[in-house]
Amino acid sequence: MAYPDRLREQVDDYLSTLGFTSREATRGLEDAMRYSLLAGGKRIRPVLCLATASSVGSSPERLLPTAAALELIHTYSLIHDDLPAMDDDDLRRGMPTSHVKYGENVAILAGDGLFAEAVRLVCEEQEGDPETIVTAVAELMAAAGVEGMVGGQYLDVAGSAESGSDEDRLLEIHSLKTGRLIAASVGVVMTLGRVEESAKMAYRKYSTELGVLFQIIDDILDVTGSDDALGKPSGSDERHGKLTYVSVHGLSGARELAAEYHRRALDALGEAEPRTPELEDITNFIYTRES
Ligand code: IPE
Ligand code: IPE
Ligand code: MG
Ligand code: MG
Ligand code: MG
Repeated sequence: MAYPDRLREQVDDYLSTLGFTSREATRGLEDAMRYSLLAGGKRIRPVLCLATASSVGSSPERLLPTAAALELIHTYSLIHDDLPAMDDDDLRRGMPTSHVKYGENVAILAGDGLFAEAVRLVCEEQEGDPETIVTAVAELMAAAGVEGMVGGQYLDVAGSAESGSDEDRLLEIHSLKTGRLIAASVGVVMTLGRVEESAKMAYRKYSTELGVLFQIIDDILDVTGSDDALGKPSGSDERHGKLTYVSVHGLSGARELAAEYHRRALDALGEAEPRTPELEDITNFIYTRES
């Protein structure tokens, strides 16, 4: 499936230039941060950000600091997600997880460091007037915060202590823990590009459907994929009794729902003007990916 490899290379090149310390004594922390950040990964969020930029007529290059910040936040969330107190996984992006390589204490700090450096990157490097930058940072932090990724991770670990039907809880968990950051990858471009409200609506709908689609596929791959193909341990959700699209709907039910969200994402994208074909490629890639 076509994927904007050119944009991914642009993201990878930019990420590889990032250093986080000038101090010899904290070099070990920087090493741990760069280890997870540069271990590979699909770069879906920054690529989505850059593809959205070119879609609405902004320059992707100009958005690189914000695109990179999305990947720093995402990588921090993965390091913490893998910790023994969370999903207790020892493989990520085809390499030993941060806590396995550096110890839990350094892994926690590497995640904290990536999060803070993400904010710094946008504040210091993103072009734009101060008011727009503050709005963009607020949007990213909302997506990462309690009404976003971290809140979703809380619901994920709090498990059966929470009330509501499995189906409602599942959609809420997935929309928050994964959907919000994916939606922000599109939304922040609207903010920084001062896109008109009418154009924003379709993009907002598109990114919301895409975020849930992304996590449905992640749940399916956890069951159908191999450690080698995924670069992370398969079967992790079942080992931890997680509420997933597969645990609630079964494999074929989850596949049907993925097809439905894929269709809904494409329909919403069809309403978005202006747009380039790259976003459709990314949407199809997310649906058909095997890792
Ligand atoms: C995995 O994200 C964690 C989820 C939010 C489901 P990705 O599948 O985007 O992981 P990388 O970045 O490619 O490693
Ligand atoms: C985690 O979801 C989402 C995050 C916010 C990191 P998962 O726990 O399903 O992600 P994987 O499968 O370990 O990548
Ligand atoms: Mg998890
Ligand atoms: Mg996990
Ligand atoms: Mg998963």
